[in-house]
Amino acid sequence: MNSVLRKRDFLNTNDLSRAELDGLLASAARFKHNRFGQQLAGRTIALVFFNPSMRTRSSFEIGAWQLGGHAVVLQPGKDAWGIEFDPGRVMDGEPEEHVSEVARVLSRYCDLIAVRAFPKFVDWRVDREDRVLKAFAHYATVPVINMETITHPCQELAHALMLKEQLGDLVGRKYLLTWTYHPKPLNTAVANSALLIATRLGLDVTLLCPSADYVLDPRYMDLGRANAAESGGSLRVSHDINASYRGADVVYAKSWGALPFFGHWEGERGQREAARHFIVDEAKMALTHNAIFSHCLPLRRNVKASDAVMDSARCKAIDEAENRLHVQKAVMSWLLGATL
Ligand code: CP
Repeated sequence: MNSVLRKRDFLNTNDLSRAELDGLLASAARFKHNRFGQQLAGRTIALVFFNPSMRTRSSFEIGAWQLGGHAVVLQPGKDAWGIEFDPGRVMDGEPEEHVSEVARVLSRYCDLIAVRAFPKFVDWRVDREDRVLKAFAHYATVPVINMETITHPCQELAHALMLKEQLGDLVGRKYLLTWTYHPKPLNTAVANSALLIATRLGLDVTLLCPSADYVLDPRYMDLGRANAAESGGSLRVSHDINASYRGADVVYAKSWGALPFFGHWEGERGQREAARHFIVDEAKMALTHNAIFSHCLPLRRNVKASDAVMDSARCKAIDEAENRLHVQKAVMSWLLGATL
């Protein structure tokens, strides 16, 4: 394909130039002050969900409508046919159609396709290839948006906009990404994304987790280090709770499964259960530099963060969630040709 004609997708923020990233955040800030427009008039977006959602689904549907567009929600295997992704597969199992047809047909109906596809949690070597998202991007002839697979770039933009709103200049600020307990091993997507965007924006990032088993995939650790080298920020890993909280300007919490135990999670259980004290509470927040706290949501109260933290003025999780609406309008408009 002629590179001049190649479509743009929104799969990961590290694919964006710094000018594009800043432009999207500026556009989102404008949408925040002027919610309605006609940027998507007569345009449609297919929202393909392989996993549940509250914020992502509602903010994309509402955002498209507020800009004059229309969204259609599809849940393959529930209200739409199950989809096969393996090329060359003899399709005599459950899936009724191949992504090759799904992506090309939706491209004839829609101007944008957005996809949420979490890992299968069986084999990280397979899940880390992000093949569902990549297959849609490959076969679709319209731009594809990542609504969370093994990264969550829409959340990244919402988080970044909230950080800029709250702190202004971010360079050199101390940013703590802390693992928290959760009864189940969860996706690393938001943690990968937090690490990518915080290092991109020049923050001094500490990744706090119970042990080396919880360090993120080397792909994202390496990208984080490269981002930090370029932005003037930094990235370090710590297992020391008090030292990590001390002096932090931002505390961002997320739980995730330890990658060495991917697919055989029973081996992780003991370590996980012994780390319930990673909860974000007032005592830990008191060690910070009057830090703001946030989380992507959904959040289990008094498991990941205490009621007192969630109900404090320091908690900006609702602001970050609101920003999903604004940043996704910026992304949809940009992919459809609006200048940033
Ligand atoms: N933060 C986020 O993506 O929320 P949902 O899973 O509810 O969409």
